[in-house]
Amino acid sequence: MSIIIRRATPADIEAIGRLVIDVWRETYRGILSDYVLATQTVPVGERSIRYVGLDSDGSGRAALVAERAGTIVGFAAGGPATDGSLGTEAEIAPPYVARRLQFRGIGGRLMGALAHALIASGHKSAGLWIPRDNVAAVAFARALGGTVAGTRSTCAGETMLEEVAVIWPDLAELTVWHAEPAALSRGARGSGLAAPDIVAADALTRCRMDG
Ligand SMILES: CC(C)(COP(=O)(O)OP(=O)(O)OC[C@H]1O[C@@H](n2cnc3c(N)ncnc32)[C@H](O)[C@@H]1OP(=O)(O)O)[C@@H](O)C(=O)NCCC(=O)NCCS
Repeated sequence: MSIIIRRATPADIEAIGRLVIDVWRETYRGILSDYVLATQTVPVGERSIRYVGLDSDGSGRAALVAERAGTIVGFAAGGPATDGSLGTEAEIAPPYVARRLQFRGIGGRLMGALAHALIASGHKSAGLWIPRDNVAAVAFARALGGTVAGTRSTCAGETMLEEVAVIWPDLAELTVWHAEPAALSRGARGSGLAAPDIVAADALTRCRMDG
C-alpha cells in the first residue's frame, strides 16, 4: 500500500470533509447521542477543514492529508493553542483515518509529519483533548508517546463528555513516527486555532442552557 503524506490544499476540502464526517460518525456512535451525531456533522467537518490551506498565511497552522491512489484517506491538523487548557504551545485537532485503513500506520505517520510541521512553525510542545470513551484514540495517542496531563468535562448536545488531555511536552519525540519530507518542513508563524475537542460551540451553548 503506497501512502503519500502531504500538505492539504483547498482542492482537498470536500474530500476531507467527507472523510472526517464519515469516520467521526462511525467512531462516536454509542458515545454521543444520535441527535448529536445527526446534527453536529457539519461543524465537525468545518472545524477540521478550516485548517486547510492555511500553512502559508502566517497562521502557524498545518493541515496534512494521507493520500492513497489519489484518494484522501487520512487527515491531521494543528496550530497555536488558543487557550491554556492543554498547557502546550500548539493544539492538535483530532486526526482521522478511513476505517478500512486504520491500524496500518497511517495515523502515526500523519502525527509524526504534523509534529515536523508544527516544529517548523516554531512550536515546541503540543497536545489534544480526546473524549475518554474513545478508548482507541487515547490508546493511539499514548502509543505515540503522549502523556495524559488532565481531564475536563464538556458538553455535546445533551451528553456530558469527559475528555482527556494527551500532550507531548517535547514535540520532537513525536517526529520519530515520520521521516521529514521537504514538502512538510515549510512553516508559518502566527496565532489562532480552533478548540481541539469535537464539540461544536453551539452544542456547548445548548447544553449550558439546558443545564
Ligand atoms: C485514531 C486513529 C487516527 C489512529 O490511526 P491509525 O492509522 O489507525 O493508527 P496507526 O496504525 O498509525 O497506529 C500508530 C500506533 O498506535 C497504536 N495504536 C493505534 N490504535 C491503537 C489502539 N486502539 N490501542 C492501542 N494502540 C493503538 C498502534 O499499535 C501503533 O503503534 P505500534 O506501531 O507501536 O504498534 C484512527 O484509528 C482513527 O481515525 N480513528 C477514528 C477517529 C478518531 O478516533 N480519531 C482520533 C480522535 S482524538
